[in-house]
Amino acid sequence: MRTICGLVMAAALLITGCAAEEPAGPPFDMRHTTRDLMAGMIDASADALWDAVGTIWDENGENYWEPETDEDWLQVTGAAMTLIESGNLLMLGSRARDTEQWYRYSQDMIDAAAVALEAAEARDPDRIFDSGEVVYNSCNNCHNTYWIGDEQRGRTIP
Ligand code: HEC
Repeated sequence: MRTICGLVMAAALLITGCAAEEPAGPPFDMRHTTRDLMAGMIDASADALWDAVGTIWDENGENYWEPETDEDWLQVTGAAMTLIESGNLLMLGSRARDTEQWYRYSQDMIDAAAVALEAAEARDPDRIFDSGEVVYNSCNNCHNTYWIGDEQRGRTIP
């Protein structure tokens, strides 16, 4: 009797095992919208990159600046890393508006930021400066298609 019970139990376990739902996946916290990520992380990181190297002319002549200390370079590296990881976050779950063009634009931002990251690791201010334009274009390309609801900046996709 004990053996039969054991068998029935095992069968019951097997059945429940088969009926179990698909694993739910990692418990991502998705409280931030795309807009939140833009305003809170992506824009600030892009600014840190764009402001890292520059020149202004004033009454004293030309003022050029570039990252100097280890701390300065760490900030540029961190900004590039944040943009790369933000590209991943944009493709996560319902933030992705579709799985083709949206993925491609997110990937383009990642690739652009990866150039900045390499430049920061090489401590090359000229390449940091040049990567700024590529990053800027990657932002604009996506905005031109998906930034809907703001008449000044976007257009509705057909
Ligand atoms: C994959 C697409 C995509 C990429 C890449 C992208 N954005 Fe956006 N961004 C959007 C969308 C969509 C919105 C509008 C969000 C909304 O209003 O719901 C937006 C809105 C914004 C806003 C306005 C946020 C607000 O408070 O209303 C800023 C600022 C911004 N993006 C900056 C950037 C910068 C800087 C980059 C590049 C470093 C970038 N974005 C790259 C899709 C993108």
